[in-house]
Amino acid sequence: MKSISHICCIGAGYVGGPTMSVIAQKCPHITVTVVDINEKRIAAWNDENFDNLPIYEPGLADVVKEARGRNLFFTTEVDAAIDKADMIFISVNTPTKTYGKGKGMAADLKYIELCARQIARVSTTDKIVVEKSTLPVRTAETLTSILHNTGNGVHFEILSNPEFLAEGTAVQDLLNPDRILIGGDNTPEGQEAKDALTSVYANWIDRDRILQTNVWSSELSKLTANAFLAQRVSSINSISELCEETGADVNEVARAIGTDSRVGSKFLKASVGFGGSCFQKDILNLVYIAKSYGLDKVADYWEQVIIMNDHQKKRFAEKMIASMYNTVAGKKIVLFGWAFKKDTNDTRESAAIYVTDYLLDEQAEIVVYDPKVKEEQIYADLDYLNTRSEEENRRLVTVVSSPEEATKDAHAVAVLTEWDEFTTYNWETIYNNMLKPAFLFDGRKILDSSAMKEIGFKHFAIGE
Ligand code: NAD
Ligand code: UDX
Repeated sequence: MKSISHICCIGAGYVGGPTMSVIAQKCPHITVTVVDINEKRIAAWNDENFDNLPIYEPGLADVVKEARGRNLFFTTEVDAAIDKADMIFISVNTPTKTYGKGKGMAADLKYIELCARQIARVSTTDKIVVEKSTLPVRTAETLTSILHNTGNGVHFEILSNPEFLAEGTAVQDLLNPDRILIGGDNTPEGQEAKDALTSVYANWIDRDRILQTNVWSSELSKLTANAFLAQRVSSINSISELCEETGADVNEVARAIGTDSRVGSKFLKASVGFGGSCFQKDILNLVYIAKSYGLDKVADYWEQVIIMNDHQKKRFAEKMIASMYNTVAGKKIVLFGWAFKKDTNDTRESAAIYVTDYLLDEQAEIVVYDPKVKEEQIYADLDYLNTRSEEENRRLVTVVSSPEEATKDAHAVAVLTEWDEFTTYNWETIYNNMLKPAFLFDGRKILDSSAMKEIGFKHFAIGE
């Protein structure tokens, strides 16, 4: 079996960075080089101060500290790393297309194609090329076509090895995954490549948790896994609205159904709506693929998960406005949390962005506090929406670094991310700081409702 001594990973983002750090930590005999065209990002991965790594993930700094400089390297020298490697992971971004055919739905594969062309141009020895990015089913066909038409005699074997880590728990998920999925051709060369990658993971993961499939099943399983997970959140969020109308409590309903072993207890936490870089993008992509095969009913079925999620974000903002006497113009509203979930500095598709957009339409004055998200990121997220000018976003939204400072003379506080520290605040002091009546909207249902009401808040929580 082919043994792997040099790995190159193209893309030093939320997946490439943590995944390669853990591979390097667990496989000291393999040299792992992570490359990216973003010089600032690579410089941050190489920063002497581990607090400055570009990605915040609990436990990640320690892993990088152990392996960096030993067998883990971050560099912008892409060509050299590609040529030296026996195995190349492609872990670049595959966002929703913002132009042309499939705009707003299909995955934009231009970065993937650029990687394939670069690998084809630079390689002088045989390589195993691994799709780590989430890709539409049958992308391996495109990669094969690009890589095998170079005429330089190099053999490329293509594998699909989607990543299932969730942000905020990336290191734990990588150390102890539910499964590793490896798809490849069922030819002798394909089998040899699958076994080579299996042996990398087998350095710390039991072989019975490493699943081998054909390449199309692997590609499709990743989109399907995200669609199923997101569907659970949209399902419980749909029930949260019904709970608010009927006096049922969504946590109680979730517990009641989650104890049925056929349903299971995870991923039933009602929220202001799911965010993150994956769910929406991957479901839209699934819908697009179904439509492109003429499977309109399949497409409609999955699209409903997104429709429900958009509704949840909007109805939370509308509930805030309606509770505050149907006007929030000029009112100071404090948002606790901007990240799309706790324990990450990632804000892609965060519900907070959309809730803010609705509130700004009503001329609210917004103050944001998040323990890990930088001010420049918050403004960049709002500017990206293109709803109003950059000047307006900076005039109407203030970002603060202390939660106490944020709540002074506020009309309302809304909890949009479930950061643990929010539950440890002295909410009585916050109440005393605020204008009365003091409104509290809990979009994550993390605060004790009866304690909040006892303090005096006009309190609303999702699904209650
Ligand atoms: P990211 O945007 O954080 O990182 C991608 C990196 O690739 C960027 O730093 C970018 O500069 C770099 N890049 C793009 N083109 C390049 C090129 N030609 N050469 C060198 N570098 C290049 O993205 P991410 O969140 O790490 O996601 C990567 C992929 O993994 C996506 O397909 C995503 O769907 C998938 N995925 C993400 C997660 C997650 O939680 N973020 C989980 C599972 C799978
Ligand atoms: C997701 C998948 O979980 C992961 O397997 C895949 O590899 C990448 O996409 P991620 O987006 O990082 O991971 O976070 P996840 O924990 O799935 O949360 C996504 C969104 O759903 C967050 O906004 C989260 O707050 C929300 N969510 C999740 C809920 O609202 N309720 C839940 O019960 C679970």
